[in-house]
Amino acid sequence: MPGNRFNAFQDHGVGIGLRIPHYQHIFSRKPVVDWFEIISENFMIDGGRPLAMLDQILERYRVVQHGVSMYFGSATEPDPEHLKRLKTLVRRTGSPWLSDHLCWGSVDGTYSHDLLPLPYTWEAVARTAERVHQVQDYLEIPVAVENVSSYAAFTASEMTEWEFLTEVVERADCGILLDVNNIYVSSVNHEFDPMEYVNAVPAHRVAQMHIAGHSRYEKYILDTHDHPVIDPVWDLYARAIERCGPTPTLLEWDDHIPSFDEVHAEALKANRCIHKFANVPDAVDSPALASETWDNKVLEASK
Ligand SMILES: [Fe+2]
Repeated sequence: MPGNRFNAFQDHGVGIGLRIPHYQHIFSRKPVVDWFEIISENFMIDGGRPLAMLDQILERYRVVQHGVSMYFGSATEPDPEHLKRLKTLVRRTGSPWLSDHLCWGSVDGTYSHDLLPLPYTWEAVARTAERVHQVQDYLEIPVAVENVSSYAAFTASEMTEWEFLTEVVERADCGILLDVNNIYVSSVNHEFDPMEYVNAVPAHRVAQMHIAGHSRYEKYILDTHDHPVIDPVWDLYARAIERCGPTPTLLEWDDHIPSFDEVHAEALKANRCIHKFANVPDAVDSPALASETWDNKVLEASK
């Protein structure tokens, strides 16, 4: 079963996005974290301080790479130099899988630096799946595509977003990074039932999940990653975990970043959710739930 290659990573537990304001805390306090998600593009360089910091993180922690500029749905081919640098970084980090977004954002080498929604057409399914397949083959690790939050829709669309996602991942034989906050944001902006989306996703393809907070305005929601996760998103997450089983989950917090302890506490709510809803009675407790610092963990292990 193609999706089963992600089952090996179910023990990854709950991760936190690696962000510069937390470096000092991480290096001095050595908190126990199941894994860190890094933004690949921040480290696709030849040397210098960012890579030195990353190497220090890799000495102690597992790292999973997340990208923001692959633009799987763009009409133009990915830049070969970008792919080469990405593969070099994958070899450095040992990332067990790699994720990027199901979107477009570049035309003839000009980049928008935005994650733009695709028209949900059969033509876009074929092109996007082919692109994901090529990248996955080149990188030689599993790839998971993430559903984006969107604020506009195409009249040319021939299917729902979740049907589009399903068609792409089945044809590309890849995984899904299911962002339940993005589902919620888009459901409000486009007036669909977010639970219908979660219930329709092919569960065996879900490799990872994202949860995040957002900003609500009078008529729409912006995916700002600057607030705690709201209850309706936790409800969607619980249902997704119920369907998909224990799934590596990452709490995204990218703006107005609070202290590491606050982010960590929010992330651990996801861990409790996994234990409550995953229907796996003998699931192993996340190390992050057992001890607060890496030194405590080593102490406990030596008892
Ligand atoms: Fe996300």
